[in-house]
Amino acid sequence: MTTPAPGTSRAPRVAHTRHELAQARAELSDGHVAVVMTMGALHEGHATLIRRARERAAHVVVTIFLNPLQFGAGEDLSRYPRTVDDDLAICSREGVDLVFLPTPDVMYPDGDPGVRVSAGPLGAVLEGQSRPGHFDGVLTVVGKLLHLTRADSAYYGQKDAQQLLLIRRMARDLDFPVQIVSVPTVREPDGLAMSSRNTYLTTSDRQVALCLSKALYAGADAASEGPSAIRRAAREVLVREPLALVDYLVLVHPSTLEDVPEWYRGEALLAVAGRVGTTRLIDNLPVAVGPGGGAREIFSGTGDVTGGGA
Ligand code: PAJ
Repeated sequence: MTTPAPGTSRAPRVAHTRHELAQARAELSDGHVAVVMTMGALHEGHATLIRRARERAAHVVVTIFLNPLQFGAGEDLSRYPRTVDDDLAICSREGVDLVFLPTPDVMYPDGDPGVRVSAGPLGAVLEGQSRPGHFDGVLTVVGKLLHLTRADSAYYGQKDAQQLLLIRRMARDLDFPVQIVSVPTVREPDGLAMSSRNTYLTTSDRQVALCLSKALYAGADAASEGPSAIRRAAREVLVREPLALVDYLVLVHPSTLEDVPEWYRGEALLAVAGRVGTTRLIDNLPVAVGPGGGAREIFSGTGDVTGGGA
């Protein structure tokens, strides 16, 4: 199987069962296989991941699975957008070779798995504090999908920074033979980070939601003055928008997720989460703290893809 040039779209093969996936995967034996995992409702952020994967890999597999295990009671599983036909059209346009589109029964034939991957302490902070068990559910499905697709590399968005960090840790701590690659956050022209959940936003919600990315960039603009200046500048933007109910705004070390002290200089993660209307949104920016500092697309030293964007 060879990958067609962009623009010459060809429908990808679609596997619904483990058996169909194994058969189709066996035919991708010649060359590097990259996987892009998604929950569907694909947008330009997902498409960018696929494009980056395609630039480096001989074959690209996309998984589309709305994973019930990572949703808590009262979260948005039932209203999460389901747009399979559009998703497949995007996969076609982007030259994806194979789409794995399982149902929950296929992924969890015995019901919710009793044995799960534990995200550990890094899974209990920030998003994990608001969403207990969320990252165990993410890592469990990511582990399963890595095994099932037997991918050589797997692409994830910086948009979900804590998820990305935990997937990297899982691959290292549990010796998964896969290269984890991160891709910068893709934003709307006005700065809003693209997300499948943006479809929940009303027109006025969307205006309110802009304060999240504005706060991050205001923080990054103060990067040369140190951590408290960064936090202050970001907080000032958020307090001017009372309709955004901020869950957290933090400047943390990118690998420990602990608040960085005032003397800290180097790379840090400025991350925010909040509720706008009925929608919980997250966003973050890698920031270089100190002289000449500011926003970065991605952390250095990860060997990852830079120059993302639509
Ligand atoms: P989902 O939210 O569909 O996101 C799939 C991938 O797209 C993730 O790696 C996410 O970080 C990336 N992504 C989403 N929005 C992005 C944006 N604006 N810019 C760049 N990348 C973006 O994340 C999940 O699904 C699930 O937790 C999953 C990993 C598939 C496990 O179920």
